[in-house]
Amino acid sequence: MKELDRNMGDCTTSSDELVFFVNGRKVIETHADPEMTLLTYLRRKLGLPGTKLGCAEGGCGACTVMLSKYQPQTQNLLHFAVNACLAPICSLHLVAVTTVEGIGSVARQLHPVQERIAKAHGSQCGFCTPGIVMSMYALLRNNTSPKMADVEEAFQGNLCRCTGYRPILEAYKTFTVDGGCCGGKGWVNGCCMTNGKAEEKEVDVGVNTSSGLFNVADFAPLDPTQEVIFPPELMSLSKNQKTRSLRFSSTRAVWMQPANLDEFLDLKYKHPDARVVVGNTEVGIEVKFKNMLYPVILAPSFIPELHRVTHTDNGIMFGAACTLTHVGVVLKKAVEELPSHQTQFFLAVLEQLRWFAGQQIRNVAAVGGNIMTASPISDLNPVFMAANCKLTLMDKDGSRVVHMDDSFFVGYRRTILQPQEILLSIEVPYSKKYQFVSAFKQSPRREDDISIVTAAMSVTFTPGTCAVEDLRLSYGGMAATTVLAKNTANKLLGRCWGEELLEEACSSLAEEMTLDPSAPGGMVTYRRTLTLSLFYKFYLTVLQKLRGQGLNVEEVRSDFLSATEIYNQEIPSSVQIYQEVPPSQNQDDVLGHPVMHLSALKQATGEAVYCDDIPLFENEVYLALITSTKPHARIRSIDSSAAESSPGFISCVFAGDIPGSNVTGIFHDETVLADSLVTCVGHIIGAVVADTQLNAQRAAKAVKIQYEEMQPIITIQEAIAAQSFYQPIRKLQRGDPEAGFKQADHILEGEMHIGGQEHFYLETNSTVAVPRGEDDEMEIFVSTQNPSETQFLVAKALGVPANRVVVRVKRMGGGFGGKESRSTILSTVVSVAAHKLRRPVRCMLDRDEDMLITGGRHPFYGKYKVGFLKSGKVVALDVWYYSNAGNSCDLSLSVMERALFHMENSYNIENVCGHGVLCRTNLASNTAFRGFGGPQGMMLAESWITEVAQSLGRPADEVRRLNLFRQGEMTPYNQVLEQCTLDLCWDECMSRSHYRQRRDAIELYNRQNRWTKRGLAIIPTMFGISFTAVFLNQAGALVHIYTDGSVLVSHGGTEMGQGLHTKMVQVASRVLGIPCSKIHISETSTQTVPNTSATAASASSDLNGAAVRNACQVLSQRLEPYKSRNPKGSWEDWVKAAYFDRINLSANGFYKTPDLGYSFETNSGRAFNYFSYGVACSEVEIDCLTGAHKNLSTTIVMDVGVSLNPAIDIGQVEGAFMQGLGLFTLEELHYSPKGVLLTRGPGSYKIPAFGDIPSELTVSLLRDAPHDKAIFASKAVGEPPLFLASSVFFAIKDAITAARAESGVMGPFRLDSPASAERIRNACKDRFTKLCPPAEPGTFQPWSVQV
Ligand SMILES: Cc1cc2nc3c(=O)[nH]c(=O)nc-3n(C[C@H](O)[C@H](O)[C@H](O)COP(=O)(O)OP(=O)(O)OC[C@H]3O[C@@H](n4cnc5c(N)ncnc54)[C@H](O)[C@@H]3O)c2cc1C
Ligand code: FES
Ligand code: FES
Repeated sequence: MKELDRNMGDCTTSSDELVFFVNGRKVIETHADPEMTLLTYLRRKLGLPGTKLGCAEGGCGACTVMLSKYQPQTQNLLHFAVNACLAPICSLHLVAVTTVEGIGSVARQLHPVQERIAKAHGSQCGFCTPGIVMSMYALLRNNTSPKMADVEEAFQGNLCRCTGYRPILEAYKTFTVDGGCCGGKGWVNGCCMTNGKAEEKEVDVGVNTSSGLFNVADFAPLDPTQEVIFPPELMSLSKNQKTRSLRFSSTRAVWMQPANLDEFLDLKYKHPDARVVVGNTEVGIEVKFKNMLYPVILAPSFIPELHRVTHTDNGIMFGAACTLTHVGVVLKKAVEELPSHQTQFFLAVLEQLRWFAGQQIRNVAAVGGNIMTASPISDLNPVFMAANCKLTLMDKDGSRVVHMDDSFFVGYRRTILQPQEILLSIEVPYSKKYQFVSAFKQSPRREDDISIVTAAMSVTFTPGTCAVEDLRLSYGGMAATTVLAKNTANKLLGRCWGEELLEEACSSLAEEMTLDPSAPGGMVTYRRTLTLSLFYKFYLTVLQKLRGQGLNVEEVRSDFLSATEIYNQEIPSSVQIYQEVPPSQNQDDVLGHPVMHLSALKQATGEAVYCDDIPLFENEVYLALITSTKPHARIRSIDSSAAESSPGFISCVFAGDIPGSNVTGIFHDETVLADSLVTCVGHIIGAVVADTQLNAQRAAKAVKIQYEEMQPIITIQEAIAAQSFYQPIRKLQRGDPEAGFKQADHILEGEMHIGGQEHFYLETNSTVAVPRGEDDEMEIFVSTQNPSETQFLVAKALGVPANRVVVRVKRMGGGFGGKESRSTILSTVVSVAAHKLRRPVRCMLDRDEDMLITGGRHPFYGKYKVGFLKSGKVVALDVWYYSNAGNSCDLSLSVMERALFHMENSYNIENVCGHGVLCRTNLASNTAFRGFGGPQGMMLAESWITEVAQSLGRPADEVRRLNLFRQGEMTPYNQVLEQCTLDLCWDECMSRSHYRQRRDAIELYNRQNRWTKRGLAIIPTMFGISFTAVFLNQAGALVHIYTDGSVLVSHGGTEMGQGLHTKMVQVASRVLGIPCSKIHISETSTQTVPNTSATAASASSDLNGAAVRNACQVLSQRLEPYKSRNPKGSWEDWVKAAYFDRINLSANGFYKTPDLGYSFETNSGRAFNYFSYGVACSEVEIDCLTGAHKNLSTTIVMDVGVSLNPAIDIGQVEGAFMQGLGLFTLEELHYSPKGVLLTRGPGSYKIPAFGDIPSELTVSLLRDAPHDKAIFASKAVGEPPLFLASSVFFAIKDAITAARAESGVMGPFRLDSPASAERIRNACKDRFTKLCPPAEPGTFQPWSVQV
C-alpha cells in the first residue's frame, strides 16, 4: 500500500464509509475493498446465499439482484436488475439492494413472482431460479403491466440449463397483458376468467386428458402496493447528500469517486494509468479472468457532465457514462418524435442494442465504456463509425473534438486518447434525406452473445438520383479494430445503386476484407463471406427504399424480399398433453398428478441450500487448484515460494501429501494429484489453501511450474494416425453385412463429426470437507451424483476404511452426468487438504476451471457404409465410431457401448456391424452426459438414413417409417422388442405436427423465397433403459416412521433438479397410503443407504422407486394388524399403537433389475430392462446469407408409460430437448491445436437461451401406454428425449438442401454437428461463398481444431 500511496500523491490511506441498504437494512462498510463484488459481499459477509454464482462474468444471470436509486434531478426512483458478480461494492454508495431473500420467503410470505415460477414447474434444480425471479421482479417494479416482449427482454441475460424455459415463460405470462392470465384475481381491466375471454388451450378430445399442469387460480395476485419500499432513511440521505468525493482503499487498490469534472480530470492527470469504471462490465472481466490489477480506479458516477443528454442541432449528445439502457430510452423517444429520415442512425443503434448483452449488463454498462474498450467486436462502434460520430475528449487543460473514423482506433483495444484524457461525450448525428443506414450483428446465438461479425452501413445519394454520394461501410470482427472498407466505398462513389455496383462491391470487399487463415476467433471463411452477405442485405434494403421513393432502380424480386427482413421474435406458444389419472383413483393418492417439485418454493426464495450455501464452519479455509498449462509434459519443478508469501496463504497440497493412494478414477488410471506427468491442460497438480477464495486463487496462480513438453495428441484424427486407443475396441455384429451389401441395390458411404458438449450445470462442482477430529472421520458435503464412489475414492486417497467417510448430498444445481464420476477429482483433493490441515476446507470451482478440468460429452467421429434397396429398405450397415475419450478411461467404454447399442437408432437392419474405438488423447477426460453416447450413436444413424432418402430422391419420412422397428422384432444385440410403441408415437407425431400440410407449405415457402429457406424433419428415438454395467442396476432405501406419524425416506438417488425426491415421496405416499405432507426426504447420505449406484442412466426412479416401495410395503405390512384392529383410526393412531407394541418402524428396501446381463463377447444376454420411445417433428427457417436459424415449431410425442408425475416428466422432456438443441445446433467447444480449451464460460460457450425455444412447442405424453417393467408402470424419461432435438438439426439440413438446390448443388452432403451458423452459411453455396474460398488445409495453423 505504501508503494501505492507514493504513486498516488494526493491520496491518503484512509477509507470513507460506504453506506448502502440490503433488503431494507442499512449496511455501513468501513473497509470497502475496491475489488470486491456485491455477490461476494452478499454471500460471504452478509450471509445471504440466495443470490448464486454461476459464472462471475455476467453471462448467466444467476446472480441477478435489483438496485434502486433515488435520482435527485428527476426526483424519481430508478429500479434496475444487475449482475451482482460484476457490481463492485464501492459503486453502491447510497444504493438500495434487493435480493431474492428480500422479496419473500416460504416462512414469511411468498412473492407472486416466486410462487408462480414454482407452481408452474419453472424451477427444477433451482440454481438459476433466484436470478430469474429477480429479473422478473425488477421488470414488475418498473412496469406492472408488461407485455410478453418485455418479459423476454428481461430474460435476455438469464440462463437455465434444466427447464427448457417454457414453464418459466408460462409462469410469467400470467403477469402480462398480452399473454397472461391473472388466475381470476383481475388486476388489470377485469379478468379473462370472469369476463369469459379465457385463453383456450388445446385440450385433447376424449376422456382423461388434460393440458393444465398448474392452476392459475392458485396464484396470489400481484399487488404493487405491497412491494418493499425504498428505505426512508436512504431517501433522506439521498435527498440531502452533498456531492463530495469518496475514496475506498485496500492493500492492492484504491477506488476514487471524484465530486466533479475538474477533480476527475485532475485525478486522471495524476494517475494516467487509472481505469475509469462505470459499469465494470469490461474491467470486472479483466480483473477476474485476465488476472489484471488496476491499482487506481476512478468512478465518475457523480459527474453530471458525463451523464448528460443534450439535443444539439446535429444530433443527440450522450455523456460517456450514460448507460446503454438510458441511451436506448432516449433514442426510442427520438425515433417516435422525429421525422424518419433523421433517425436512421438512432434506429441502427437501437437495432444493435436489441442484441447487446442482457438487460442486467445494459442497465450498468456505459456507452463510453464500449467505445473506450475499443474491442474489435464492439457492436456500437461500427454504427458510430458509419455515422462519423463526434467524440469530445477532455483533459485538465481543455477539450478536443474528434470524429469516430478509422484513425480513432490505433490498434487492438487502443484509441487515440492520451493517457490523461477522458472521453466526455459522443454525439450521434441525425441522418439526412437520401441517406439510408443499416446495422447488423451476427453471433453464434442471437441473445446475449458477442459478435462474429458486426457491421453498419450508411449510404447517401445525390438528391433525386440513385448515384452514391457518400458511402461508409464499417465492420467489426474483421481486424484488430473496427474498420472502414474505404477502398470499396471509394470505388462505388458516383455509381448507380444496381447490379453492377453490387458485383463490384462484392469482389472489392472480398479483396479488402481479408483475414489471415489463422486469425484469432477462427471461422475465417465464414467471416469473410459474411462481409459480402451483409452488404448484400444492405444493398437489397436500400434498393427497396429507393424504389419506394419512386426512383428508377431495379425492382427487388419478391423472392428476395425476406433477405431484408429484420428478425423479430415470435411470442412462443405451447401445448402440453398428458393423460389424467383415472377417476377411480383415490383422491388422496397423488401418484400421476402434476405435483410441484417439492423444493421449488424454497428454490424460488433462495432458501434452498446448495453445497456452497452451507454456512462457513469454524476455522474453515478455502482451496484453489493448481492445474497444468501443458497438454502433455513431465513436471520438471514446482516452485511455490511466491504463493507461500502471498496474503492469507496457509498451505500447499501436492502428491506427497496424500496419506493413502494417489491412484484414482473409475479405471484406476488417474492420479489425485499429478506427481511427475501431466496429460492434459487442466490436469490437477496441486492445490493452495488460504483464508479466502480470492487469496487461495491468487496464491495458486503464483505457483511456478517448469515442464518438459512432450508431443500431445489432441484430435480424433491425430489419435487415429498415432493408433492411440484405449482397449478394448468394441464390436457388435448381427447377420452378415457382406452378404447384405451384395444384396443391396445401392451402397453409400459417408462420415460425420459430432462435437462434444459442456454440461454447464448452473452450479459448478463444489465440496466442503470437514474432519471430525477422531478416528480419521471425515464428513464431506459434495455436489455429486455419486456419493458412494466419492466415499470410496476419498477413503482410498486418505488411506482409511470407507466407514470413516460420510458423503452427504442435499441437492445439486444440475448434474447431467457431469457429476457422476468427475466430481471426485475435486472432492478427493479437498478431502486430502482437510485431512492434512485438520480443518474444514471448501472449494467451489469457478466456471472457467470447471469447464477446463472436468470434461464433457465425448466428441465422436463416425464413418459408415450403408446398403439399401430401391424401396429405401436398408439391408446392410457397417459403421465405425471413434470417440475422443481424453486422458483417462473414466466411463468412456460404457459410453461407447451405448453408442453401439444405439447405432441403428430405431431402424431394423438385417445385417449390421459396428465398431467402437476409444481415442486416448491429451484432453481432459470426457465423461457421462445425458444420453451417454446414445445421441452420438443415433446421430450417425439419422445422418445415413437422410442420405439414403436423398440419394433415392424419396421423402425422408417415408424411408424412416419404412425401416422403423416393430413390436416383436429383434435388436442387433438380440433383444426382442416387447410393448414397442414406436409406431404409435410416430403416427401421433405425424398427425399432431400436421406433417403433410407443413411439408406442402414449406415447399411453397421455399419456392417463394430465395434467401430464407424452411426445412422439416421427423425423427424417432429408442433408448435402452438400464445401466449397461449389470451390477449398477440395484438400489436401496431406508424408511423410518416416527411416533408422531411423520415419515423420513432415504434412498440412494440424488436430487439434481430432475424431481427424483418428489417422485419418491409420491411412491411412498401411495404405498403407505398417507399424504405427501407427512413424508420428508432430507438428503442422500452414505450413512443411511450404502453402496449406491450413481444417479444416472435415467434409471433412478425405476431403481430407487422400487426400493422405496419395497421398504414401504414392509412397513405397511407391519402396520396392517393395527389398521385392521382400528379401521376408523388415523395413521398416527396405527403408528402409535405399533410403537407401543414394540414394532420396528424402520425398514430398508432393496431392488435389483431382474434378468439383465449382456455380453459383448457372445452377443447374448439381456442388455436393457426395456426401451423408452419417442418421436419429434421440427420445422426451422434458415437465413441462407447469415446462417442464422429460427426454431419455428416442434412437436414431441414421448412414451413415458404411466407417468408418475406429468409435470416433472414433461419438464424432463422439454429440458432434455433444449439441451439436445444446444448439442446439435449451438454449443461449440473450441480447442487450440495445443489442446487448450478456448471456450470457458457463457461469454464464449453458448447454451440455448430463452429465445431459442421453438415458437410453437407441443409435448404429448403417449396415452394408454402402460408397461410392466418399472415402478407403477412408468418409464424412464431423463435421457431419452434429448436425441429428439436432432429433428431440428435435420430440419436445418433439409432447409440447406433447398438452398443448395437454388445454386444447382444436389445430392447428399456432409454436415457436422452442431449445425452452427457458420456451418449453415458455409453449406449454402452461392455467389458470395464462391468469392471467399477457404484456405488450403495444412497450409496454416488454425485458431481452433475439431477434436
Ligand atoms: C456478459 C457481457 C455481455 C456483453 N455483451 C456485449 C455485446 O453484446 N456487445 C458489445 O459490444 N459489448 C458487450 N459487452 C462488453 C461491455 O459490456 C461493453 O463494452 C460496455 O459498454 C462497457 O461499459 P462499462 O461501463 O461496463 O465499462 P467499464 O468496464 O466500466 O470500462 C471499460 C473501459 O472503458 C474505459 N472508460 C470508460 N469510460 C471512460 C471514459 N469516459 N473515458 C475514458 N475511458 C473510459 C475504462 O477505463 C475501461 O478501460 C459485454 C460484456 C459482458 C460482461
Ligand atoms: S454469476 Fe453473475 S451472471 Fe453468472
Ligand atoms: S432449474 Fe434452471 S438451471 Fe436448473
